Amino acid sequence: MGLPYRNIIRPILRVIDSEKAHKYTIDVLSKIGNKSAGTKILNSMYKSEKEPITVFDKLFHHPVGLAAGFDKGADALSSWPALGFSWGEYGGITRFPQEGNPKPRMFRANKENALINRMGLNNPGAMAVKDKLITRQSSNNWPSIPIAANIGRSSKVSNAESPNDYSSTLGILWDYADMFVLNVSSPNTPNLRELQNKSYLELILKDCMRIRESKNEFKPILLKLSPDRINEQILDSVDSAISLGIDGFVATNTTIKKPIPLSLQSRRVLSEEGGLSGRPLHERSLEVINLIYSHTNGKHPIIGVGGIESTETAWSSITSGASLLQLYSSLVFKGPSVISSIVKGIKKKRIEEGFSNISEAIGYNTK
Ligand SMILES: Cc1cc2nc3c(=O)[nH]c(=O)nc-3n(C[C@H](O)[C@H](O)[C@H](O)COP(=O)(O)O)c2cc1C
Repeated sequence: MGLPYRNIIRPILRVIDSEKAHKYTIDVLSKIGNKSAGTKILNSMYKSEKEPITVFDKLFHHPVGLAAGFDKGADALSSWPALGFSWGEYGGITRFPQEGNPKPRMFRANKENALINRMGLNNPGAMAVKDKLITRQSSNNWPSIPIAANIGRSSKVSNAESPNDYSSTLGILWDYADMFVLNVSSPNTPNLRELQNKSYLELILKDCMRIRESKNEFKPILLKLSPDRINEQILDSVDSAISLGIDGFVATNTTIKKPIPLSLQSRRVLSEEGGLSGRPLHERSLEVINLIYSHTNGKHPIIGVGGIESTETAWSSITSGASLLQLYSSLVFKGPSVISSIVKGIKKKRIEEGFSNISEAIGYNTK
């Protein structure tokens, strides 16, 4: 199934600039996704098995979803399930439209299966995304999988003004996602990661919870954390967030720590400024999942993200405490067949290990 991607599409994408390749992919997916014949073809190539799990009172056909940053403008929602994802996260969306950093700003380290990006939360802004999603809903083009929205801080807004910035975006997008992720961990917006400190976090969460209380329907709000803070700091954020009503955590965002390059090509790429994702992030991502799970006794669902690319990486994330998983970089390096192959692999592993349901395996390694 992965053959057309591996032999034809991937070699082409490798020789064109990373962001152009990405834009091309989103354009194609949004066109294909809006046509039922298109989604049928994708589905026949990439359909995943079922490995059901209920999280936040929602049924996910399996744990693997699309990570934030791939579909920043929520353009290709309908193609996500056809690629095999059981759920997905659009954005990061900010209150105001923004261009992001100058290009080039996205790079591939091929030997490492890693990406460096310094996009800087480029997106059309909350109002424009809402308009797009209204059109999608009214044309019956809404995907039948759980959808999360990733919310970031607008770059023209200071940290002191950030509570209102986050909560305004939450209010605008409220009807257009099933759950929300507050991104206080992107390394590419100056000072954004300071928002993980208790003083800012409390104000942001209070404002966001106020918005939620004003609505008739409960929707989960999650916090996405950076892998780069020391464990005590991470747990401080976790404790404050829980005391203010957060429902779960996403671990982790990209790291600014760089591995030793494995080739000349990656030496050049890894010297670029930005956040690193993909294979070299996995180990730290696992540690953070484990840390939060052990500290909270598994009471708050964790979404594991960072270098998930195989049965092994997915299984270790689940047994370290992740209820759901997300991926981005491995989609770039391996193509969409990575999703069905991971789902097949974890199902096999779950049966071999004697669990009757995947939820029994969550956090098993920490016990
Ligand atoms: C190009 C790019 C853009 C991203 N944009 C966002 C974003 O807007 N918001 C966010 O929370 N994470 C963003 N991320 C981080 C991913 O959601 C994910 O946490 C990270 O890439 C680790 O997963 P991976 O190793 O599977 O890629 C971005 C990642 C990449 C590579």
